[in-house]
Amino acid sequence: MTLGEGRTPLVPLTESVSAKLDFLMPTLSFKDRGAVMLAAHALRLARAGGLDRVVADSSGNAGTAVAAYGARAGLDSLVYVPEGTSPKKLEQIRAHGARVVEVPGDREATARAAREAADAPGTFYASHVYNPYFLHGTKTYVYELWEELGGRLPDTIVVPVGNGTLLLGAALALDELRRQGLTDTRPALVAVQAEAVSPLAAAFHAGADDITAPAPARPTLAEGIAVPAPPRARQILRAVRETGGTFLTVTDDQIRTAQRDLAKRGLFVEATGVACWAAVSAAPPRPGLTVVPLCGAGAKTGLVS
Ligand SMILES: Cc1ncc(COP(=O)(O)O)c(C=O)c1O
Repeated sequence: MTLGEGRTPLVPLTESVSAKLDFLMPTLSFKDRGAVMLAAHALRLARAGGLDRVVADSSGNAGTAVAAYGARAGLDSLVYVPEGTSPKKLEQIRAHGARVVEVPGDREATARAAREAADAPGTFYASHVYNPYFLHGTKTYVYELWEELGGRLPDTIVVPVGNGTLLLGAALALDELRRQGLTDTRPALVAVQAEAVSPLAAAFHAGADDITAPAPARPTLAEGIAVPAPPRARQILRAVRETGGTFLTVTDDQIRTAQRDLAKRGLFVEATGVACWAAVSAAPPRPGLTVVPLCGAGAKTGLVS
């Protein structure tokens, strides 16, 4: 099932900040880490009989990854995306042979449409949000950091958060590494949201355990993290608090600047994928080594203006 995902390079950007190049994946985003797990599971169910297609909902990259790994598994894929998703992402999903359904409204409307479609017989809901297999894929991000740093972990792990699949995978890995006695350090998980759609950052800074109402769906360049009501909000807030981390937000102007700054350093990254660098480039949140993921390729959105 593998397409060679993972084992992405860790490169220093400054003395205290390194970037893990998760845009160097088969479908050019970190979502491949989780999609390979979902596709392997779907294939097992298909072989057992009664299943012949997968349905996913996505801001673009998870759908692309499910389409690619679905193709690898020989399954039909149907991918729901919000209207206005970057055309390059739609092209990539279709290139893998999946059918795309563009849904008017915000990310929640897309998720509702996919859940309804997933009720059809013979359908596997390849949800990166609900399916725990996905998180057992994204957890490899932190296992790789541990390996690359010679059995150590960074002091701060910064991740972009929409539905929180990289964050929750990271939290899972930290827990597993500690329970296996492989680390006794406690890196802080720092979550980054777009200022325009930041329901988790608002709840975190209000001291709340959950979001109280969906965030208004305001436009942002960071389409991948524009999730007004993440279903795993409670889990995400708890994970960040348990590690002594925090939430940061970034504006579209910071994203534009960060994308150009990274490009000048030789790294062309999509708008959502630069959010973490945008959040920490001026001032890393804590002393010691900070790692940011650059988790989607620039070709997916082009240079944003
Ligand atoms: C490039 C990129 N970064 C970050 C995210 C956020 O991932 P999650 O919604 O799992 O938090 C996405 C989601 O699509 C993405 O495409």
